[in-house]
Amino acid sequence: MIKNITVLQGDGIGPEIVAQAIKVMDKIAEKYNHTFNYTYVDIGGCSIDKFGVPITDEGIEKCKSSDSVLLGAVGGPKWDSVDPSIRPEKALLKVRKELGLFANLRPTKLFPQLSNASPLKQEIVQNGIDLLIVRELTGGVYFGEKKTETVDGELVATDIMPYSEHEIERIGRVAFETAMKRGKKLHSVDKANVLDTSRLWRKTMHRLSEEYPEVEYSDILVDNTAMQLIRNPMQFDVVVTENMFGDILSDEASMLTGSIGMMPSASLSDTTLGMYEPIHGSAPDIAGMDLANPLGTILSAAMMLRYSFDMAKEADEIENAVNKALDDGYRTGDIYEDGFEKVSCSKMGDIVAENI
Ligand code: IPM
Ligand code: MG
Repeated sequence: MIKNITVLQGDGIGPEIVAQAIKVMDKIAEKYNHTFNYTYVDIGGCSIDKFGVPITDEGIEKCKSSDSVLLGAVGGPKWDSVDPSIRPEKALLKVRKELGLFANLRPTKLFPQLSNASPLKQEIVQNGIDLLIVRELTGGVYFGEKKTETVDGELVATDIMPYSEHEIERIGRVAFETAMKRGKKLHSVDKANVLDTSRLWRKTMHRLSEEYPEVEYSDILVDNTAMQLIRNPMQFDVVVTENMFGDILSDEASMLTGSIGMMPSASLSDTTLGMYEPIHGSAPDIAGMDLANPLGTILSAAMMLRYSFDMAKEADEIENAVNKALDDGYRTGDIYEDGFEKVSCSKMGDIVAENI
């Protein structure tokens, strides 16, 4: 198969980690007789420096016309004080909105080889953590009206959090369908004791749950979810939630595994066009030093093959290659423990590619 991929390397460690994912995808292409064509587009701070905007309209068009998008990370202290309307993060939100990427899948898996890296007690994590957060990505407070105005002589800022029934229903469907393919258990996270958007969310999820009698469905409040993720993370299989709750809970969940550097994500639309990126940031402190963990990006590439290109076998192969690298004792600095072999970002990429 021939696939055209737009590559958004971004800032900080973005280019280093993306290069490793491409190394691994090229190995897959060779072995399975595919052609992956890459078009590089600037995003984030590097685009602000060149073009004065965090992504150009032309860049957005390139993403839209490709088969899939691979992203590294955006942002860094250099651009922290730019005008909010052109912050690096704005580009990310724009790509999500323009490509209609409403469903963000964030799997949280504790690799048994790394169980010591979890900050939780062994008795809590010993049977493994394997949950999937399905985060709504193009609605809610991120995209509602925002303003800062002077009222009675002081500044007042407002962010509106709108959700329409169809937005809730389409993310709900993704969550129920995903649950059917996994452990058939779904928690829907809301704040229905306070928010109207959450009451509509809950009502819509209940309606959908009647269509999926095999899925064991429960409502859970967001504050309780934050607590339960630490108390007993193994109770979760699929967790669906709105945009901002999902942002917060997915960072919390990733930390259960002790290594945000391992976590991939997929942002899906209602076509096969998707965007794939590790959930960690641009880590400016170690940028350019060949120290970053590329496995989150490599596993994101595996998700691309699985979800956008329908290449399940190739995706499995990448995941097995990552597992083998860990089994063989290779560790980047973030997951290093005594007795293992510490390797650089590019070396980890080489090892995973060699395992294919
Ligand atoms: C994420 C990030 C983004 C978000 C930021 C960079 C805008 O935290 O993908 O989780 O809040 O969605
Ligand atoms: Mg986040």
